[in-house]
Amino acid sequence: MNMLNIALPKGRLGDRVYAMFAAAGFECPDILEENRKLVFENPALGLRYFWVKPSDVAVYVERGAADVGVAGKDILLEYAPEVYELLDLKVGKCRMAVAAKHDFYDDQRRTLHVATKFTKIASDYYASLGRDIDIIHLNGSIELAPILGLSDVIVDIVETGTTLKENDLLPMETIVPISARLIANKAAFKFKNAQIETIRERMQALLEEKE
Ligand code: PRP
Repeated sequence: MNMLNIALPKGRLGDRVYAMFAAAGFECPDILEENRKLVFENPALGLRYFWVKPSDVAVYVERGAADVGVAGKDILLEYAPEVYELLDLKVGKCRMAVAAKHDFYDDQRRTLHVATKFTKIASDYYASLGRDIDIIHLNGSIELAPILGLSDVIVDIVETGTTLKENDLLPMETIVPISARLIANKAAFKFKNAQIETIRERMQALLEEKE
C-alpha cells in the first residue's frame, strides 16, 4: 500500500490534533511513547506521521514531503502556500489582533508604525483600510515594541489575552479568527485522493459528533 505522509505540528496543538486523528480511526500507538523520535509509522493502516515545527508544516505539505498536514490559519494567510485547505478542525482557536498601549491615540494623518511577525497579514489588513503604515518585522516578544516606543501598535496572535494584559496592552481590533486547518498537497490530493478524502470525511464526522 502507498504510505500516506502526515505532518503534525509539534507541541500541545499537535497532541490534540493527533488525538483527533486517532479518534477518527487513524491511530499510530508508537507516537504516544515519550521519546524524541520524529517519525512514526502504522504500516497496517498505511500511515506515516511526523512531528514538524508548527510554522513549517505548510512547507512540507506544499513541497510534497507530506501529503497532508495540520497548519494554523495564521500561517496559511501569512505565507499563502500552494496547498488545498480541506477542513477547519476547530482547535487551536485564537485571533489575529491589533493591540496597543492604553493611552494610544490613533492619529489617522500619521504613518502608523506596526510591529509584527505577520508582515503580510498586517500589510493586507491596513491596505484594506487604506492606511499608510511602516512595518517593523520582529521574530518574537512582539509585546515589547509599543512598550519601548519601537512601534505604535502590534499585530499578533491573541488566545487568552493574558500576554497582552501582563504587558499592559489592550486589544483594539480583531483582524481575523484563527484555528487549525487540515491541508493537503495538490498533487497528492489527485493521486492519493481516496485516502485523503477518507481522512477529511472521518474528521468532519468527528467534528459533527462533537457539535
Ligand atoms: C503567542 C503570541 C502571544 C501569545 C498570546 O505566542 O505571540 O505572545 O501567544 O497568547 P495569550 O493571549 O493566551 O497570552 P506563542 O506562545 O504562540 O509563541 P511565540 O512567542 O513563539 O509566537
